[in-house]
Amino acid sequence: MNHILAKEIRIGVLVSGSGSNLQAIIDASKKEILDDAEVAVVISNKKESFALKRAEKENIPALFIDPKLFGSRTEYYEKIIREFNSRNVDLICLAGFLLKLESNIIEYFKNKILNIHPALLPKFGGKGMYGHFVHEAVLKSGEKESGCTVHLVDDEFDHGRILMQRKVPVMPNDTPKTLAERVLKEEHILYPQTIARFIRENLKR
Ligand code: GRF
Repeated sequence: MNHILAKEIRIGVLVSGSGSNLQAIIDASKKEILDDAEVAVVISNKKESFALKRAEKENIPALFIDPKLFGSRTEYYEKIIREFNSRNVDLICLAGFLLKLESNIIEYFKNKILNIHPALLPKFGGKGMYGHFVHEAVLKSGEKESGCTVHLVDDEFDHGRILMQRKVPVMPNDTPKTLAERVLKEEHILYPQTIARFIRENLKR
């Protein structure tokens, strides 16, 4: 029976886009770094999210749940909570998920929701700071370094407790695209490492 083989920690991942961080987590779960965890389900608010294709390819349940079908965001997240519960999810990872969470899901999975942000928080976070906007702001500010941050999610954008960061240099000739690429490579190292440490320190039964 399948559940006998189930790993100790079950991760639910929320996505909106390409899912390269999702892939890094899945890859790590097949290696020693995260071998006590598995991605149990991937949920996207965007039908065309490539992350869903990645999950399907790995035989991981991949759900598109359309926010437009729900009367309120709270109801939307109630549905997502049910989907996570039906798969015994222990930990939620946001991996390029662009919607703001509501208090119902934040409370339900209190201190068990992680997010990755492509800058060194607390700088360059908050509403509207996503994707290329982040890297544009970093370049405009003249910062000499940028990086990525994994943090706990609370009810303010990019605000919860910082867990781990990795830094990269900002080069004089950087564009938002070249900087984003350099940061993204580090994200793929940072997210699995932080999840592994978080599990060890907080979730081990
Ligand atoms: C990453 O840069 C992440 O930091 C941010 O959204 C992007 C998602 O990229 N939250 P991907 O979908 O994981 O490739």
